[in-house]
Amino acid sequence: MEAPAIVTHDLVRRFDDLTAVDHVSLKIQKGELFGLLGPNGAGKTTIVKILTTLIKPTAGSATVWGYDILKDQDMIRAHIGVVFQDPSVDNKLTGRENLDFHARMYGLDRATRERRVEEVLKLVELSDKADILLGKYSGGMQRRLEIARGLMHHPNVLFLDEPTLGLDAQTRRHIWSYIKEMNESEHVTIILTTHYMEEADFLCDRVAIIDHGRIIVCDHPGVLKSMVRSEELPDPSLEDVFLHFTGREIRDEEGNEGQHARKIMRHWRMKRR
Ligand SMILES: Nc1ncnc2c1ncn2[C@@H]1O[C@H](COP(=O)(O)OP(=O)(O)OP(=O)(O)O)[C@@H](O)[C@H]1O
Ligand SMILES: [Mg+2]
Repeated sequence: MEAPAIVTHDLVRRFDDLTAVDHVSLKIQKGELFGLLGPNGAGKTTIVKILTTLIKPTAGSATVWGYDILKDQDMIRAHIGVVFQDPSVDNKLTGRENLDFHARMYGLDRATRERRVEEVLKLVELSDKADILLGKYSGGMQRRLEIARGLMHHPNVLFLDEPTLGLDAQTRRHIWSYIKEMNESEHVTIILTTHYMEEADFLCDRVAIIDHGRIIVCDHPGVLKSMVRSEELPDPSLEDVFLHFTGREIRDEEGNEGQHARKIMRHWRMKRR
């Protein structure tokens, strides 16, 4: 069988006396669209940061595309794309300039850059906005551009940390269709984090439900739902799965989530000024 895209063994990450990631062992196959699903503070971003070599684990090991996260960081960075939870585009450049700048950092030659910029802009339906300053994009358009940028250098694995946080329902649906398209037509292995149940359910081949840094359960959304199906609950959602395995709702407090989304939107607005 083909080697998996990602393997982790007992990954642990502590921040002082807080264990943010607690013995996480995962195997993600090439071509999978895999979801890390959990409430605020569950440890999703910390796992993404470890796998993208931004931070080191306290203990445990992992490989991404066959490369060791501690020994082969440059090789990993060449094979992955990342869209961070916090906005990271330059609003003083146009969409096209942002993409071109990123491609130069990856050493793509001019002809390849020009071709690839057109391709990824088309994928996220921003071709007609290519020469507008990012500062004039809406929040959803900026997010789409960030996703396009993550794809510029044809990564084998793409990490999307909360790709639709704070976006309206319609924009979220659009982004879902790009994510599916990338996975299917560009054959990118995708790891996304979300605390939107319906997002994980709609998009993911498999989902790991995470709480307090631990994987509670990991399987196909359909299998997870069948685990909690009963006469009283003939048609369970992933929300019911989470409730079943943790004894609590995933959205800790609605206020909390709203606060987080508002923080991100504020950040965007500030950047756009
Ligand atoms: N640099 C840091 N220093 C101290 N604590 C940290 C640091 N980064 C994360 N944490 C803590 O680790 C835990 C996991 O955080 P993480 O950002 O991974 O969660 P998350 O699942 O991504 O949450 P969210 O849905 O809010 O993005 C949280 O309790 C957080 O406060
Ligand atoms: Mg996070």
